[in-house]
Amino acid sequence: MYIKRNIRLSLIVIVALIIPCGITAQSKSDAIYLNKNASIEQRVEDLLSRMTLEEKAGQLNQLNYGMFTGPDNKADGEQEKLDLVKQGKVGSLLNTLGVSKIKKVQQIAVEQSRLKIPLLFGFDVIHGYKTLFPIPLAEACSWDMDQVNKNSRIAAKEAAASGLNWIFAPMCDVSNDPRWGRVMEGAGEDPYYGSVIGAARVKGFQGNLDSVFDVLACVKHFAAYGAVEAGREYNNVDVSRVAFYNKYLPPYDAAVRAGAATVMTSFNVFDGVPASGSTFLLTDILKNRLDFKGFVVSDWNAFAEMIAHGYAMDKKDAVYKAIKAGSMMDMESRTAINYLPELVKEGKLSLDQVDKAVGAILYYKFKLGLFENPYRFLDTKRETENIFTTENRKIAKEAAEKSILLLKNSQQILPLKNPNQKVALIGYYANSKSDMVDMWKATADAQDCVTIYEGLKKQFSNLTFSEGYNKDNSTTEALINEAVKNAAAAELVIVNIGITSNLSGEDKSLADINIPEGQIQLLKALKKTGKPIVTLVSSGRPMILTEVEGLSDALVQCWVLGTETGNAIAEVILGKYNPSAKTVMSFPYALGQIPVYYNHFNTGRPAPEPNAKDKPADFYSRFHDIPNEPLYPFGYGLSYTAFEYSNISLSSKTLDTNNSLSVTVELNNTGKYDGEEVVQLYIQDVTASIVRPVKELKGFKKIMLKAGEKTIVSFKISSNDLAFFDHEGKSIIENGKFNVFVGGNSRDVLSSSFELVQ
Ligand code: NOJ
Repeated sequence: MYIKRNIRLSLIVIVALIIPCGITAQSKSDAIYLNKNASIEQRVEDLLSRMTLEEKAGQLNQLNYGMFTGPDNKADGEQEKLDLVKQGKVGSLLNTLGVSKIKKVQQIAVEQSRLKIPLLFGFDVIHGYKTLFPIPLAEACSWDMDQVNKNSRIAAKEAAASGLNWIFAPMCDVSNDPRWGRVMEGAGEDPYYGSVIGAARVKGFQGNLDSVFDVLACVKHFAAYGAVEAGREYNNVDVSRVAFYNKYLPPYDAAVRAGAATVMTSFNVFDGVPASGSTFLLTDILKNRLDFKGFVVSDWNAFAEMIAHGYAMDKKDAVYKAIKAGSMMDMESRTAINYLPELVKEGKLSLDQVDKAVGAILYYKFKLGLFENPYRFLDTKRETENIFTTENRKIAKEAAEKSILLLKNSQQILPLKNPNQKVALIGYYANSKSDMVDMWKATADAQDCVTIYEGLKKQFSNLTFSEGYNKDNSTTEALINEAVKNAAAAELVIVNIGITSNLSGEDKSLADINIPEGQIQLLKALKKTGKPIVTLVSSGRPMILTEVEGLSDALVQCWVLGTETGNAIAEVILGKYNPSAKTVMSFPYALGQIPVYYNHFNTGRPAPEPNAKDKPADFYSRFHDIPNEPLYPFGYGLSYTAFEYSNISLSSKTLDTNNSLSVTVELNNTGKYDGEEVVQLYIQDVTASIVRPVKELKGFKKIMLKAGEKTIVSFKISSNDLAFFDHEGKSIIENGKFNVFVGGNSRDVLSSSFELVQ
């Protein structure tokens, strides 16, 4: 008996000694994790049971490999990183580009590391990989979800063809502050629209996560990063819970529910706690409320940055607080590989917590088929055939056309009908390729971008060009004189102003978003020639165009449109494409007005309507020197044709919980051109237990009407559309009066009202 027990014990000891060595101890076929017929959950569990703590920490470690320099500004220790891969101390790399480079590293992971766990390769593919699409803010102005889907599919396809399996998009941060350079990455100021487009982008990037062109998407930056104070990058956020639940959370929520595999934490604090260490954001909200099943990655160095925030003592404390809160993968701060094992050994973090994080990451490595074939995304033929193709560029051009926003068109000066007329194109940016790409250009080559000059040159036989201002936006008498000379000799002037695309994206906050003084001087001089002026504004954010509007006969917001910029603009100017975009961010009237957005609350002392009787003389909410209203409101954008709205009607004056109500309007294309109109539906909850915005977008339809054609547009409203969140995030629907508005922008609307009776 004694001997038997001893043999059994020694057997257990031998087995225990063998198991940590993983599959070397078993034949491959025994390993459940290698059996593709087992469920992913079983495979994850099996693999976790074979991993050492150090290897688990490794899966939580994401490093930059192949781009940028290290903190000391030297090439960033590439060999050391490859050694870490070999030791199983890396779960993912970012910024490693191209099939051959990725293959070399993947090979080390799956041939030389002990457990042969493949790596994930991530990259910021914000508006295309090599074929550049319009920036997301511009793309959002299309209100065209089929187009958004196509754009995202191609971005994913090109990225995947070059070996990536994970992209850090979409950014779902609602923002109403154009000083923030990152508004270019989002969908503007509206939570409902942000939700629709966030979900569309996720679906476009991920597909069903089963083809070699589907990549993991990453919803960012969780959460409320769009509310950074003064629009200053990496700054703090202080929003109420009501604003959080009603305004900031919905787009992340929608994108997560659309199946996003990953979510990135934001740099900001939320309720005084850095997002990467916030149990409220990561566990209570993301995991429990949104039911997020994927994995969380920090933003760059965000674990370690909790020290500077004053929330963590040191890196060990930082990773402890991050993992405990629900963070998982650590981007670049190396806290996980350096401190996680000892935190578990000391009993501060439980193995279970670590396994949950590691398991979520492994899940997606299985899901992507990387264990069956770690080289699945690594095919040089596919790389050559799918990137920057004619077809991709064609779609990028369509996307660019749909993003171009017509803001003013006096006397129908556009479209230009005669390609032989004498046109003076003026503006440094119109002929500067290097100013056409932003920091999120991914692998695009500025030389491949079609400038406005190149685009117009193909279409106009009589085109002159002069710079008018310098690269730094200043001007000189000589530059102005030359521009004026060309303008005087032409029948029409096209001026391209704005700011370089390089001032869009991360770390591109600007305190002053007025049009640079040199460009205003130029416009004033051109105005004196008496020639009609078409102004094209290039910028990754709404600029302040108040003065420019007065100096221009036509005003076109061209954003940052990507590879096909010049071709798309030329088509629009010639009317081969009739503009249909509507802005998703308000254009401020003046700098001091920011933030200005359509879905604000009313004050107790609202400004009176201009024609109101009994206007208060004083002491109401206003600026004495500028209007309260933006220059161009949310949803605004013109077409070459004209749309008239009439006859708003509701199917009933009351709504209950069992039925829906339909709102109809008549839409008439009264202009000379076929065109598309984005019909927008807004509501206002007039009295509620928590005050509600003066208008909230609840639906939209993009409708094509031939010249002279009319149609009836209808929307359904059900009681669920009237719900909002209370301070605890509970969804509530309250009886009472609701105003309903329909129109072509958030300002010019027809209105009616109904009562909700539950
Ligand atoms: C920092 C940015 O905030 C984030 O959006 C991006 O994905 C990461 N860097 C990785 O480049």
